[in-house]
Amino acid sequence: MRLKSVLAASVAALAFAPLAHAEPQAEVLHWWTSGGEAKSVAVLQQEFAARGGKWTDMPVAGGGGDAAMTALRARVLSGNAPTAVQLKGPAIQEWFEEGVLADISAVADAQGWAAVLPASIAGHMKCGDIWCAAPVNVHRVDWIWANKALLDKHGIAMPTTWDEFNAAADKLKAAGVTPLAHGGQAWQDATVFETVVLGLGGADFYRKALVDLDKDALTSDTMVKAFDQMRTLRGYVDANFSGREWNLATAMVMNGEAAFQIMGDWAKGEFVAAGKVPGTDFLCASTPGDGYLYNVDSFAMFKVDGADKIEGQNLLAELIVGQNFQKVFNMNKGSIPARTDVALDDFDACAKLSAADMGASSAGGSLLPSYAHGMALRGAQAGAITDTVTAHFNSDMSSADAVKMLAEAVANSM
Ligand code: BGC
Repeated sequence: MRLKSVLAASVAALAFAPLAHAEPQAEVLHWWTSGGEAKSVAVLQQEFAARGGKWTDMPVAGGGGDAAMTALRARVLSGNAPTAVQLKGPAIQEWFEEGVLADISAVADAQGWAAVLPASIAGHMKCGDIWCAAPVNVHRVDWIWANKALLDKHGIAMPTTWDEFNAAADKLKAAGVTPLAHGGQAWQDATVFETVVLGLGGADFYRKALVDLDKDALTSDTMVKAFDQMRTLRGYVDANFSGREWNLATAMVMNGEAAFQIMGDWAKGEFVAAGKVPGTDFLCASTPGDGYLYNVDSFAMFKVDGADKIEGQNLLAELIVGQNFQKVFNMNKGSIPARTDVALDDFDACAKLSAADMGASSAGGSLLPSYAHGMALRGAQAGAITDTVTAHFNSDMSSADAVKMLAEAVANSM
């Protein structure tokens, strides 16, 4: 009897006690481990902590995120998904179809995401009718970075065609300078390849080949030419390129050990983190040809138990799309804000060029998803293309054989 009344009293007390707010918690899986990346993600950690959140960091090193995605799969399969995960493009939809993503529509609706995000970006963040990811930025992939002093010394201007690029590289090579800083990892080969396909084939060709996977485009003479150019580029990298991380390739350009790097604008994050100034120490230009390859980083929240974790997910989603975060993070990261209402006055000239080109490409129909950075295709198809690109780059395979292998690999991945 006594026990019963004690219990009843405590239940009554609980019912009338004001609801304690759970302390927001988040275990965040991401692959931002280079100098510029770490500085960028620290902005989110600080904002999260300032709002009372407890952040558990789960960084998985490896540019492009392949290792992070392997780690994610292992965690989800063991029934212990991280709270928030750096995830993007069609992979968001793939995970949603597995039934493991949380619905963050309440935050998105309260913050009016639909009004401040371009439709093309919002499309990637929605799974059916619900919001299932929060966008961080827009990275442009088709960039060339150059060491200004080296180009000046050799009387070279930033190339505007692939022929000009090859001529500049031949001149540098003859002078004993490594023309192209490159990291021989499959995703970096793919990054270079997609800019070559866009540059040589144009926007419509890129879309047919690397978005629609059109067989005629994949086996066309234009694709043969793209592999020819990859073979030419192979001749411009140094002997130690194999396996090198992308940020070490960026450092080669920074230190004058190589003239150019073809890489997305997370490379600018590295230059800037090292105190280098665009236009003075290094130059940025889009890779030859028209168009814009976009790569939108975003975070998806996984279904987890516990009010504290759900609170953490909501807080993260709110902060990520917040105006201040979108500005400060992207100034560090090299990208531009995903929101359209963040002023770019304090951003550098490369970011302003990115924003202007994105607008023009969007109007002209040449704003295209990066296949190499998981924006255009599902994992199996993207993997089939990358396997071919890297097999060709690392052997003496002919362009004709590469095109044959490409079409077969894509067909087998469907
Ligand atoms: C991501 C960037 C990241 C880069 C290098 C890209 O796929 O979108 O945020 O900096 O990989 O790891």
